[in-house]
Amino acid sequence: MKRRAAGPPDLSDLEKHARAARHRALAPYSGFKVGAALLSPSGEIVTGCNVESATYGLTMCAERVAVFKAISEGVHKFGAVAVVADSSRVSAPCGACRQVLWELGGDLWVRLADLKGRSRTLRLSELLPLPFDARNL
Ligand code: THU
Repeated sequence: MKRRAAGPPDLSDLEKHARAARHRALAPYSGFKVGAALLSPSGEIVTGCNVESATYGLTMCAERVAVFKAISEGVHKFGAVAVVADSSRVSAPCGACRQVLWELGGDLWVRLADLKGRSRTLRLSELLPLPFDARNL
């Protein structure tokens, strides 16, 4: 019998952490609050929210806040990330976050969810095909 690739894991608990982190977002300029939660292979969860700047350009996305927090806390391996935003369609990480998630997290499971209960789980490689990373240097 042919072996099937394992389907996406249940990331509903991780999504709850991302949802809680979203409430801590500092988004006075866009009003667009985002929460993210990273899961390490040993079960640690590190969250992030977007933090906006009056310069706009210095704003940091929730996903990168979570990754940088994790690294600074000694969590270097990730298996999944959940991202929650209030959007008319499920909101996916921006290009910069996809790059950082890929370089520091590899081919993570990515759970995208909104406030209406819609969610989608896919691999980061689906969001960032043909990535540029250390192997290219
Ligand atoms: N934002 C995130 O936090 N993550 C993304 O992947 C997309 C955008 C934030 C940045 C900014 O504070 C607001 O959403 C609007 O772009």
